[in-house]
Amino acid sequence: MFSRATLEPTDSAIPVEKDPDVLAAAARMAGEDLCSIADLSSAEVRAILKLGHDVKRSPAAYRHALDARQMVLMFEKASLRTRLAFETGINTMGGNAIFVDQTSSPLGERETIADVARNLERWVDVIVLRTYAHDTITEMAANSRVPVINALSDFEHPCQALADFMTLQEHFGHTAGLNFTYVGDGNNVCHSLMLTGAQLGANVTVATPRGYSPDIEIVTIAREMAQANGCEIRLLQDPHAAAEGADAVYTDVCVSMGMEHESTKRAPIFRPFQVNEALMSKARPTAVFMHCLPARRGEEVTDAVIDSPHSIVFDQAENRLHAQKALLLLLLGGLENLKAFSC
Ligand code: CP
Ligand code: NVA
Repeated sequence: MFSRATLEPTDSAIPVEKDPDVLAAAARMAGEDLCSIADLSSAEVRAILKLGHDVKRSPAAYRHALDARQMVLMFEKASLRTRLAFETGINTMGGNAIFVDQTSSPLGERETIADVARNLERWVDVIVLRTYAHDTITEMAANSRVPVINALSDFEHPCQALADFMTLQEHFGHTAGLNFTYVGDGNNVCHSLMLTGAQLGANVTVATPRGYSPDIEIVTIAREMAQANGCEIRLLQDPHAAAEGADAVYTDVCVSMGMEHESTKRAPIFRPFQVNEALMSKARPTAVFMHCLPARRGEEVTDAVIDSPHSIVFDQAENRLHAQKALLLLLLGGLENLKAFSC
């Protein structure tokens, strides 16, 4: 059962496959990779979300858009949402997914990443990777003639951020001028949210403990994007100050996959950054709570917050499906098939 109908004001009389913004993005993105949100222009981020809303509204229209297309997913880390959203997403558009569990054999160990790429491109139409090292993804992309998608690396989680801002558009009707606050570790999810928010005109405030702030390269790029899009990026160390006046408060685990050896050290450092009712009371009364999931309940967020009526975490999870379908359509040229079918 799909959640609320989209409220995004891109609903217009123009069918999405004829929308000039979506067509421009489709022309530029076909055959390209998505390693980072920084690979996308502001217009392309908007186009992905516009298409995502349409895919959500009218899934049957896309039933054959990727007929017989083959997707391989090679994951070095566990996944529920990302894997299932990609697999169900391509299956419901006529394609097929092949999952390769790399959790006990990291990519590049048995043979070079370049050689893996030169094999995969002979069989499949798109390569979806979840890795530790971000370089594994960029190296695969550099050596593959078919699109490579980042399904999470230690540096970024672009598919997550696209779905999250699609969810905000749905909830608020827009993202420009929204006050978006991220509290917690300056990690992969935080990086992609900063870039996406900046491309969509949202004011992004990030509160992290000292020593856990986002990467300076991401901050610099996000600030350049924010300047171009009329919004700002703020970095703070006080989570309560960061939550003041927020429209959305977002958090993620304090210990990402691969960082488990730091759990004991991190626990006391991140305790003041827990999103609880006291912290949410600083945000606007209409503020939503967001989390990429999986959540460590009682650690970065309390049950009272994640289970409250203000929590939109399962809408975010659902929108992983629609946003990732939109991304696949654009990277694999699926809108061309749509036109052929409608002729
Ligand atoms: N949010 C997210 O990426 O979830 P999974 O790790 O379950 O894919
Ligand atoms: N930051 C988390 C996100 C999981 C979806 C991790 O990398 O483990």
